This record gives sequence, structure tokens and C-alpha cells, in this order.
Amino acid sequence: MLQKLLLNTTLKSICNIKCIRKFSDHSTISLPKRIFSGIQPTGTIHLGNYLGAIRQWVRLQEEENGIILSIVDLHSMTLRHDPKVLSENILKMTATLLAVGLDPKKVIIFQQSSVPQHTELFWYLSCISTMARLAHLPQYKEKSAQLKDIPLGLFVYPVLQAADILAYRATHVPVGEDQLQHLQLSQELTKMFNNRFKTKFPIPHAVITENAKIKSLRNPEKKMSKSDPDTKGCIYITDSEEEITKKIKKAITDFISEVEYKPETRPGVSNLVLMHSAVTGKPIETIINDAKGLSTAEYKHIVASEVNDHLSPIREKYYEYLDNPQHLLDVLETGRSIVTPIAEETLREVRKALGIGFNVNNKQMLSVNI
Ligand code: TYM
Repeated sequence: MLQKLLLNTTLKSICNIKCIRKFSDHSTISLPKRIFSGIQPTGTIHLGNYLGAIRQWVRLQEEENGIILSIVDLHSMTLRHDPKVLSENILKMTATLLAVGLDPKKVIIFQQSSVPQHTELFWYLSCISTMARLAHLPQYKEKSAQLKDIPLGLFVYPVLQAADILAYRATHVPVGEDQLQHLQLSQELTKMFNNRFKTKFPIPHAVITENAKIKSLRNPEKKMSKSDPDTKGCIYITDSEEEITKKIKKAITDFISEVEYKPETRPGVSNLVLMHSAVTGKPIETIINDAKGLSTAEYKHIVASEVNDHLSPIREKYYEYLDNPQHLLDVLETGRSIVTPIAEETLREVRKALGIGFNVNNKQMLSVNI
């Protein structure tokens, strides 16, 4: 189903993790055997999710058939949740993925909990994970610091993520930069499993783009995030034009009026330039040239207008899709029926490697050495 293809990519090592960054140089590597990624169903997506990860999926679907995308509902239970809101959010996320241009004839979209093999594999991987390693992960440290009673699910969350990836023997995982440490853990667990149980599962690679880290509009030192307490820091694709314009106008920049791209020293205005470049497809140099003579306040109007032009049609489609929940359920059910046999095949191999995969038709396997 998945053909080989060549992409303009270069191998790069970031944070000790093997990942593939899409650049426009001319080195080539052969991509991919299997692409897998996931997103939590927390309502709709923000511009960080969209530009950092989902747009990659939309582009990749033109080059590669059968990308597997999971709406990871189990991951969104690690903090207290409302069951009614979660089921609505699963459908909203399905509508969002279709609205941004993912085509269920080309990609496979499914709900994580509908494939129980994920949680089974999660248990096996938990048994080779160590508490010391998991306690080290930055997202756990950050989230747990705000809680008095830390749910176990929050702690073991990245092991479930590794299981998601391994269940499909994924080779390439397109994500934003905030997921790199989790991907590194997935690599380690797969290697450990292979070494201990003599299997040959592929080691997954992160695939990230230039837009892998879109920052908060209110705190450009931090990533744009749904959990940002300042809601003005985050642009949702369902925000109205007025809301988007207001948020961009209020974006924190600095006291220098000139429009420049200097992420280290001027993160606020650079974040706007990056967003502008990502939604228009214009190179950053062109944007800086065109903005010569404009103050950052004037420039914000242009960015708001470009972001609105890009998001308005997506927002319209989103509401159209939401009007037809049966279609959304059908998409998820089709996805489930396609991925379940793939995951089950992996689990059969895993169970066998672990010594629990008896085959009652194979008498030899049933003989016991006493
Ligand atoms: P989630 O739901 O938080 O985010 C979904 C995707 O959006 C990217 N992203 C960003 N990219 C750039 N700038 C930002 N500000 C930004 N914020 C979010 C994320 O990197 C991600 O790619 N644990 C994962 C979901 C998951 C998963 C998996 C991913 C579960 N299993 C297996 C890949 C493979 C998560 O919470 O993503």
C-alpha cells in the first residue's frame, strides 16, 4: 500500500534524537515505510498544531498513501475530563482534520480507544520502562508541578505514545518540536524491546518542519498551547475574524518598531513573521523586505488579514462537517477497520516474543520442558 518515495530532506540530529527535518536542500533520503501521528481531541486545533504538525500531514498525503492518524482520546484522560465533552471533542477533531484538507480516501483517521491493541502494547512497554526515565520528561515535570495529586496516567502517558507508534511499526512520525523527547523515549523503548526479545521492530524517526514551534502570542518564550492560562495567546481555527484580529493586535512584541526575523533576540515579532510566512507560503526574506518601513503595529494588521484569509475557508468547512456527525462516525469506523488488523499483526508478534503467544494449532509450542 505504501510506496517508496524520495523527498528533499536532510537527516538532522536534534536533542539526541534522530529526526528528519524538511528543508529545501538537495540531499535525499528514501521515505517512508509507514507514517503515523496523533493528536489529542481537545476541541479544535490552534495555529501551533496546524502549522507545526497537521499541515505536514496534509502535504504528505499527496506523496504517500495510507498515513495513519490517531485521535488519541486515551491521552486526553490524563487530567480530569468530562465524558460528554470528550465525545463531542472526538467528533470536533474529526471534523477539523477533514476541514483542513485531510482526505479519508488518502489517509486513515481513527479513534485510539477503538483499537484495544494500543493499551495492551502499552502494558508490555510499561514493563520495560523505568520510573526514573519517565520522571525526567519535561512535559511531565511541567504538568505535574501544577498538581497536588498526580494521576498515574500523566506519568505513563509517553509509554502509551510509544505503543501507538510501535503498534503500526511506524518509521516516520510528523510532529511539532514539543514532542521530540517523547519520540526519543519511543526510540529507546523500541530498541530495548528489540534487544531483549530479539525482535526487529523499526526505530521511529520524528519528522519536523520549520514551523515546528509556534509561540504563544502573549508569551513568545513559550509554545502556543491550549493550556495557556491567557487565552489571548492562542489562535484557534474556529476563532472569528474579529477574535483573531484582536489577538494578533494584542500580541506581545518589544519596543523596537522595525519588522525583523530574529527569533533569539526578538521572539515576539519573529513569531508573527513565521506565522505570516507559513500561512502565505512566502519566504521569510520576502516578508521582511515587503514590511520595510512599516511599524510592528501596522504589520500586525497585515498578519491578521493573511491569517484570516487562510483560516476562514477552513472554519466554514469545519461547521459543514460538524453538521453531519454520521459522516464523521463513518470516517472513524472505516479507519478503525483498516488499522485493527495491522495492530493485531504486530501484537501477535509481540506476544510471541514475550512468551505468551500460544498457538493452539501448533502442538510444538504447547510442549513444556520440565
Ligand atoms: P498534541 O495533541 O498536544 O499536539 C498535536 C500536534 O501539534 C503539535 N504542536 C505544535 N507544533 C508547533 N507549535 C506549537 N505551538 C505546537 N503545539 C502542538 C504537536 O507537536 C503535535 O505534533 N502526545 C501527542 C499526541 C500523540 C502522538 C502519538 C503524536 C499521542 N500518541 C503518537 C505522535 C505519535 C500530543 O499530545 O500532541
